[in-house]
Amino acid sequence: MADIGLVGLGVMGANLTLNMAEKGHTVAVYNRTTAKTDAFAAGAGNLAAKLRPCHTMKELAAAIAPPRPVVVMVQAGAAVDETADALAAALSAGDLLIDAGNANFRDTRRRVEAFAARGLGFLGVGVSGGEEGARHGPSIMAGGDEAAWYRVEPVFRAIAARFGGEPCAARVGPDGAGHFVKTIHNGIEYADMQMIAEVYGIMRDGLGLSPSEMAEVFSAWNDGRLQSYLVEITATVLATSDDKTGKPLVDVILDTAGQKGTGRWSAMEAQDLGIPATVIEAAVAARGLSARRKERLAAAERFGPPASKLEGALGDRADALGLLERALLAGKIAAYAQGFAVMAVASETWDWNLPLGTVARIWRAGCIIRSAFLDDIAKAYSGDGAIANLMMAEPFASLLEEMEAALRRVVAEASLHGIAVPALASALAYFDLSRTVRTTANLIQGQRDFFGAHGFERIDSDAKGLHGPWSSGT
Ligand code: 6PG
Repeated sequence: MADIGLVGLGVMGANLTLNMAEKGHTVAVYNRTTAKTDAFAAGAGNLAAKLRPCHTMKELAAAIAPPRPVVVMVQAGAAVDETADALAAALSAGDLLIDAGNANFRDTRRRVEAFAARGLGFLGVGVSGGEEGARHGPSIMAGGDEAAWYRVEPVFRAIAARFGGEPCAARVGPDGAGHFVKTIHNGIEYADMQMIAEVYGIMRDGLGLSPSEMAEVFSAWNDGRLQSYLVEITATVLATSDDKTGKPLVDVILDTAGQKGTGRWSAMEAQDLGIPATVIEAAVAARGLSARRKERLAAAERFGPPASKLEGALGDRADALGLLERALLAGKIAAYAQGFAVMAVASETWDWNLPLGTVARIWRAGCIIRSAFLDDIAKAYSGDGAIANLMMAEPFASLLEEMEAALRRVVAEASLHGIAVPALASALAYFDLSRTVRTTANLIQGQRDFFGAHGFERIDSDAKGLHGPWSSGT
């Protein structure tokens, strides 16, 4: 009999199944279009012996040894509810549903409760790493009941990526905690990608570098402090030619970015929790603006395109590239500091007790934001002291000190030359505002009290709810 089931043989589901089969698990599989199930089993080569293709959910349930764990890998949203409901009807009390898609954690919280009322377990599991990761080792962030997780932990640890031999799979908390952590992972992914794209924009529009020259720069950076999967694939993307035109492929790709929701959710949840995640917000907004191409073209016609060459403003090419590398690292520190700060407060708010060191550890391999940098974050969180903000923890505080001037210079010169760097600029503003002794919020408080009698505190007393004599000023 199968020891686990999987519903939804799209790219991620199919690859996760093959990964499980390869690790010795027998997997019962079902897809709504049954021809897809048959074709998948037929194309599975020597792993087919480990598959139990099923044409109905009843058949699927009958093929798995109870209590049955079943992974649901369908599009996030209504499809999860429909599939899980249909599946639940075929399952028995004590069975376990595992949503491994990119669900909104609020939906996961609701589903955990709804299925518990029906006697079924429900785990919300974030899986990162794309197609390759699903097949050969993703990063796995699980949320839900501890006992339910222990039942499937061996399977997930077996299929996960490894960092220094340690599987990148862990339960990070109850109910929606896993999907929340995956959402923040994606928010950071958006920020990382946007800052890389901004630096690419400076190289392209400000320095006039060709894609192949930029590919070499990113490739060299990948051997240094910026080592990461995203920098590595950026080099590969920039080095790829278009079969049709022979031009660099990146030059013929339309500049409108898609998004499926997780980056936006990160920004929304950060706002909801009152924690600034401005770099992530800027990255989401930049995708939104990129997609409004018609409006951009109209504005370019009205105001003229902004970008102009830097003409030595960042020094010679080697100086400029050094500044960009350091600026990117500084921006990255701010973005990760924000993502981890959001998780820390979400953990308190939802009573999750998120182990942030473990989160960093399971992000070191398999996932899209994997990098050497995450190993440093994992180490920072493994120390004794609580971390209020990653920017204050070593080695990040010292790094920021070293990189700050570069970030400032890059943002300033890019702005002066009309090259948009919203995420890098947000990172700089976040850093500056975060270490400002006297912000300008005293004026905001005055304004609030003026028009709404919202009250303020004074610097020289503990009294609350004070009001100004504003009428004299009007
Ligand atoms: C991952 C990715 C993945 C995500 C895609 C597309 O961790 O493997 O984050 O889960 O869905 O990258 O996301 P967008 O379409 O929103 O860019």
